[in-house]
Amino acid sequence: MLHSDSAAPWWADAAVYQVYIRSFADGDGDGVGDLAGLRARIPYLAELGVDAIWINPWYPSPQADGGYDVADFRDIEPAYGTLAEADLLIAEAHAAGLRVILDIVPNHTSDQHAWFQAALAGDAAARARYLFRPGKGEHGELPPTNWKSVFGGPAWTRLVHPDGTPGEWYLHLFAPAQPDLDWENAEVRAEFEEILRFWFDRGVDGFRVDVAHGLVKDQSFADADGPMGLLRNDHTHPAWDNDGVHEIYRGWRRVADSYDPPRIFVAEAWVSGNERLARYLRPDELHTAFQFDFLGVPFSAAAMAPVVDSARDAVAVAGGTTTWVLSNHDVVRHVTRYARSQPEHYIDSAWDRRRWADEKADLDLGVRRARAATLFVLALPGTVYLYQGEELGLPEVEEIPDEARRDPVFQMSTDGDVGRDGCRIPLPWGGDGAASGFSPAGAHAAPWLPQPAGWERFSVTAQEDDPASVLSLYRAALRLRRTYLRGATDFAWVHRSDDVVAFRVGPVEVWTNTGGSPVPLPAGEVLLASAGGAPDGFLPGAATAWLHRS
Ligand code: NOJ
Repeated sequence: MLHSDSAAPWWADAAVYQVYIRSFADGDGDGVGDLAGLRARIPYLAELGVDAIWINPWYPSPQADGGYDVADFRDIEPAYGTLAEADLLIAEAHAAGLRVILDIVPNHTSDQHAWFQAALAGDAAARARYLFRPGKGEHGELPPTNWKSVFGGPAWTRLVHPDGTPGEWYLHLFAPAQPDLDWENAEVRAEFEEILRFWFDRGVDGFRVDVAHGLVKDQSFADADGPMGLLRNDHTHPAWDNDGVHEIYRGWRRVADSYDPPRIFVAEAWVSGNERLARYLRPDELHTAFQFDFLGVPFSAAAMAPVVDSARDAVAVAGGTTTWVLSNHDVVRHVTRYARSQPEHYIDSAWDRRRWADEKADLDLGVRRARAATLFVLALPGTVYLYQGEELGLPEVEEIPDEARRDPVFQMSTDGDVGRDGCRIPLPWGGDGAASGFSPAGAHAAPWLPQPAGWERFSVTAQEDDPASVLSLYRAALRLRRTYLRGATDFAWVHRSDDVVAFRVGPVEVWTNTGGSPVPLPAGEVLLASAGGAPDGFLPGAATAWLHRS
């Protein structure tokens, strides 16, 4: 049953599990995750103790960017299943007590989308839904602006007419196969509200909004050299965080609020600073926005505590709730991020990947730190998003043959970045199936990204009966979170120093030691600890403990 027993809305303290569907579970043996696989794992997710799932784009797509190139927003990718199966999935998830959040991709479509195809065929109304511009230079041979694509290379591609003559340029902040929509166009705005209704009518509980800060471009289309990184954007660049986006979200909120129960949004908004982020969270806009700092904050008490303050300040401005995340499908998995020396600065994933050759990962240390960081964020008030496989302690897969890599970042990067495939490797479930249980026994195809040898050791079957496993830690933590922390918002720091940080929420006091030596703990029943090995009354290095303080 769906929980709605407290005054706070369900999402305010939910644990949401991110399903990267292509890599989650393969039901039909073609090496690609699908709806059948996901439906079969609903009992696993319910038992894990999460409240909702967020499913990455599952729409028909040529997969130029892992489904973020959507060809049809009202259907299901045939390799994943059918709309009828999606309806069953939503009903089955709800029956198991899980809400369902989808991913909406409003900044761009696939170049195979009917609108873009019509634009290419010369339909003026279709063309007006995208950002076509004449080139600069005597013959229009230069792009309209000097903007760079987030993945690398220019953000404009020039069309070639069927007779071979060059035409106008179109904008794509991401891959050339992802043309940007023109959100000044009323038809674009109306279409997306209809798409929201299409899925809300089917019972979907909310949407994660892809590139929420990018829809509206500064109409000056001026040259700009500002950063175009995937994960750090600057509102001084004319492509990002223009004030015009907020009117769009006010409209979306009206749509979401017209449903009973109201539907919700979580924004992917890479903006600079809390004040800019808080604008997305105003009461008539989006309910939540990912707080992304923990995706790159080094494992250090001195660095982690200010992130908590800053995120809480941001939502306080707007009266919202915080939304924590340690990993997702765009960044190096946190076991591996923590497995190397921790710099003073934010660990940008592209930077992290470039140092792999120079410094070997210590995965035992990475797991130990990951366990500690998990207990730290799971106790913070707010929503928490868990990325599939983190509950198994999966590391990033660093060694992938070049020919097997699928992320457009690998192809387009101009600085040797190998891209994001290493955090998207198909999950090991264990049992008799192929690819450590990702595919059923007798599968007729290998997994779409190769799984390293020996991944059975991370599988669910290898971990579920082991009380010391990462999976057991997640299960215990999510259960205790429901018992002691649900609805608690009374956060207060108890201790802060370079290596040790402690806070209190409800009846729980959380102590994290990011240093190397044991530190004394206050008196109190230890509800859960990420690591043992220290004398009684002490917290070992790289560990977190939850204490019950009445
Ligand atoms: C953000 C998504 O998380 C990422 O995977 C994708 O490549 C870009 N948006 C473009 O849609």
